[in-house]
Amino acid sequence: MTSILVLNGPNLNLLGTRQPEIYGSTTLADIEVMCHETAKTLGVTVAFEQSNVEGAMVDSLHAARGTHDGIILNAGAYTHTSVALMDAVSSIEIPTIELHLSNIHAREEFRHTSYIAKVALGIICGFGAHGYVLALEAMAQHLKARA
Ligand code: DQA
Repeated sequence: MTSILVLNGPNLNLLGTRQPEIYGSTTLADIEVMCHETAKTLGVTVAFEQSNVEGAMVDSLHAARGTHDGIILNAGAYTHTSVALMDAVSSIEIPTIELHLSNIHAREEFRHTSYIAKVALGIICGFGAHGYVLALEAMAQHLKARA
């Protein structure tokens, strides 16, 4: 069965209490449940991970080779700084959707730059927790069209 890795970066473990006016009140555990429910309706499986450590995220991306067919990546603040994550995404050659809860382009200038965008299949941002559902739908559709 098609398998999609949903990989979350730093501070996303604090969703629900972290700046709810920007990120909403849905917790990461709630989002994980949403992802599994969405996966069921799409006929795919989802692995859901979170790390606050850049190198651990690089390791997760490497480990996705041969295991997952697509990746949904909310790299958090590393989006705006990490050449290492960008290189990992281009090295593994697994289609990757960049995801953000907030609309990073409507926020501070430093959030307008994304290293992930340069190597991503596409970007979804600004739809809060529902963005995860949208990203899974987009990835499932992409993988189906490619099969
Ligand atoms: C975020 C946006 C980033 O700019 C920020 O550093 C985050 C969360 C989002 O989901 O909106 O940690 O990726």
